[in-house]
Amino acid sequence: MRIGILTGGGDCPGLNAVIRAVVRKGVTEHGDEIVGFRDGWRGVLDGDAVPVDLAAVRGLLPRGGTVLGTSRTNPYSVEGGPERVRETLGRLGIDALVPIGGEDTLGVATRLAGTGVRLVGVPKTIDNDLDATDYTFGFDTAVGVAMEAIDRLHTTGDSHHRTLVVEVMGRHAGWIALHAGMAGGASVVLIPEHPFDVDGVVAHCLHRFESGFSPIVVVSEGATSRDGDLVFSTGEKDAFGHVRLGGIGPALAALIEERTGRESRAVVLGHVQRGGTPSPFDRVLATRFGLAAVDAVHAGETGVMVALRGTDIVRVPLSAATAQLKLVPPERYAEAEVFFG
Ligand code: F6P
Repeated sequence: MRIGILTGGGDCPGLNAVIRAVVRKGVTEHGDEIVGFRDGWRGVLDGDAVPVDLAAVRGLLPRGGTVLGTSRTNPYSVEGGPERVRETLGRLGIDALVPIGGEDTLGVATRLAGTGVRLVGVPKTIDNDLDATDYTFGFDTAVGVAMEAIDRLHTTGDSHHRTLVVEVMGRHAGWIALHAGMAGGASVVLIPEHPFDVDGVVAHCLHRFESGFSPIVVVSEGATSRDGDLVFSTGEKDAFGHVRLGGIGPALAALIEERTGRESRAVVLGHVQRGGTPSPFDRVLATRFGLAAVDAVHAGETGVMVALRGTDIVRVPLSAATAQLKLVPPERYAEAEVFFG
């Protein structure tokens, strides 16, 4: 078979491990030819493709980013986009496509599958907000980076008797903040699913100072205050209509300094969370997803996504994965709240 592969949306540690697994299994077990599209759906629209053989994937397992490149191109926001996608796939003789992506890339895949394009999706996002899979690869690495930052900030914060506010990624879902905050012993964790009360945050910070230690506040970029006064976006939108976020951390730090009377600083982790080498968990999950995607293609499946359920890799309808985001449930946030202050 000729299998097309692409990586779309924000990059994420583990993308190369999926590409490697698809090529290794497809070529050696089935004699497949793998065709890589450059920069996500942009490469399919423009017919920008390269052969990906065994030699091309040597050494890829530990490499962060994606050797195929990525973009947030949306074929459905381009005139004649879906037709151009079908034309490219037909011209290059692609039998099935393996798009690796999050809600946007796989949202496009869901719509294309509905029009007869044969494809099997692979879930990725550091945000871990894709539904129908317990975890996406990239998340564990991002949490590890954020946790290490929090560990380091504890010692410098305690030495200077100041509050440190750590802004992490997460537009709509607070999974990174929740896990990094719990793992790093944060004094407060603020997530988009649970609008926060500034008085409560200040009270937790003061309580932490009273114990002889300094507070660490972990805040998702998409968190908002209950009164609606603290909402941050640049106003710019991408092809999928998402506004670019950022700025809640420094704003909150200024407010905490004013209200506690103690110095407060902000650290914005940003793309550091997405870069670099994947964790062992992400390498294994990404590899297993890649192998399972090849199995699904050869089983004649289409319109499905490979997913982690418990410790098993299963196939789920793409529509189930992209219909809504997987948000942090209140009971999970309540677990973190036990350690606030
Ligand atoms: O979707 C993954 C993600 O890292 C989000 O957490 C974040 O809001 C966004 O991508 C940032 O996108 P960009 O790479 O365009 O800055």
